[in-house]
Amino acid sequence: MRVAVLVSGVGSILEAIWGSGLQVGLVLADRPCRGLEIAKARGVQVALVDRREFAGEDGEKFDRDAFSDAVSDRLLESGVGVVALAGFGTVLVGRIHGEFGGRMVNTHPSLLPSFPGWHSVSQALEAGVHVTGTTAHVVVPEVDAGPILAQVPVRVRFGDTVESLHERIKIAERQLFPQVLASAIACVGLGGEWWRSEKFWSLMQEVQG
Ligand code: GRF
Repeated sequence: MRVAVLVSGVGSILEAIWGSGLQVGLVLADRPCRGLEIAKARGVQVALVDRREFAGEDGEKFDRDAFSDAVSDRLLESGVGVVALAGFGTVLVGRIHGEFGGRMVNTHPSLLPSFPGWHSVSQALEAGVHVTGTTAHVVVPEVDAGPILAQVPVRVRFGDTVESLHERIKIAERQLFPQVLASAIACVGLGGEWWRSEKFWSLMQEVQG
């Protein structure tokens, strides 16, 4: 099954996906970024659906529907079966959730349902939690609210900054997300709520213990 990885930044989780041996059929970015460059250098098929091209002349009125449809069209064209959001910086809306519903998975740097959204690491620090972590989940229209696939806790340390804490969370994400993705690829063909299947749970148990 062909897999697309959606990126916006450094792409270290994308590198971890390659490192795990998974084949990536397409890397799609919403902006020029290192993630796109390393994919090009590796000879992987790439697509840039530049979100700046979907803004009004004042640069403010971002047409999220048109952008999401363009991403969906590009994914449909490339014939991917599973879509992995690995640090993708644009919330997707509209028909993509019908076309790829139950087949999009995301990695998020907090223990959901705590701290959804873009500032999860700083919010965890501000809240004074002692444990945060990472969550892999199925993407649904509501941001970071989809069914949880797996979670790994990360301890907050005295003196942590957003950067130091996020980097430790990303170490956990680089380990967890490729495993979840491989299990999702193996189970998505079951259809329906495959993440509730015994097969998915036992695959995850094998890798996570
Ligand atoms: C990860 O923490 C991801 O959960 C968040 O952005 C980061 C991506 O890191 N949304 P990278 O670009 O893969 O290094």
